[in-house]
Amino acid sequence: MNIDWKSLGFHYTETDTIVRCEYHNGAWSEPVVTTDKTVQMHLSATCLQYGQQAFEGLKAFRGADGRVRIFRMEENARRMARSAEALCMAPVPVELFCRCILLAYEHNRDWLPPYETGATLYFRPLLIGITPRLGVGPARDFLFAVIPSPIGPYYPVGFHGTPFIINRNVDRAAPLGTGQWKVGGNYAASFRATEAAHRQGLSCIFLDAKEKRYIDECGAANFFGIRRDGDLVTYVTPHSSSILPSITNNSLMTLAAELGMRVERRHIPVEELTEFTECGACGTAAVISPISRVIDPDNARIYEFGDQPGPVSTQLYNALLDIQYGRTADTHGWCRVVE
Ligand SMILES: Cc1ncc(COP(=O)(O)O)c(C=O)c1O
Repeated sequence: MNIDWKSLGFHYTETDTIVRCEYHNGAWSEPVVTTDKTVQMHLSATCLQYGQQAFEGLKAFRGADGRVRIFRMEENARRMARSAEALCMAPVPVELFCRCILLAYEHNRDWLPPYETGATLYFRPLLIGITPRLGVGPARDFLFAVIPSPIGPYYPVGFHGTPFIINRNVDRAAPLGTGQWKVGGNYAASFRATEAAHRQGLSCIFLDAKEKRYIDECGAANFFGIRRDGDLVTYVTPHSSSILPSITNNSLMTLAAELGMRVERRHIPVEELTEFTECGACGTAAVISPISRVIDPDNARIYEFGDQPGPVSTQLYNALLDIQYGRTADTHGWCRVVE
């Protein structure tokens, strides 16, 4: 395979096959592996008319020991089931979800990047409502697909500080809206703010929609800040009904506690940024993107953290990557070894 793995970005690369199954008359079909990556559906399908869709993102890693690990696949399956229920879609059973991921891997294993290239095999599970409806309402028929693609690092600069800007003019998700689910509408709603930030070479921080006081999400990632009070190191991350419960953040919270840190999930007022020694954005794509500075244009303030990753972020980043790449024991049973 003639791919320069090291220069892959976070872009779609077409692989051999995808996996799909359909839900009709109250039952899921058996998964089908196919080279056809397109879908024919009625233009009145509920996913097209009303945005009835959910998706996921997870990765397979070629380890230091040559084995292949998929990270926390069941957690992604459970989260997609919650997204499905939130949007009145038929949930994909966890067992079926995992079987489709494993099939997608088995039929595209040549696309798994080698160890130490910084690239991984990403899986994009997608669930859409396909029943044609002009009256506003949910579908009765659904398509579930898993689209694999080798990907490189989310940020080309790799593990290095990234600048962010706070946007108070756009709400990503309402407090009792759909922010806690991984559904397409949240992302479409954030494009305006993220594109404006990108035009300035920045990424976007969203605040809570109600009070505009607390940090909610960092683009498509969760936020964390590190406090140091004497010897005590605290990992602080938002508690909010409008952010996605990140599986990476959940893993980092577990590792932080094991490394002797205090872990707090609570509201984080923007001004508390002055009290963090380092902070970062975390998610499957980048694991951790250290935050170099946060610009608050409405208050003419800039919070500086430096371009170099801080020691705690580095420690957490290495601890999680060591598990994903099989360099340390997976004591939590987070990885499914598939080869
Ligand atoms: C809005 C949003 N927040 C957070 C995350 C991070 O979640 P995870 O760690 O499960 O990838 C993602 C990515 O999936 C996301 O899209």
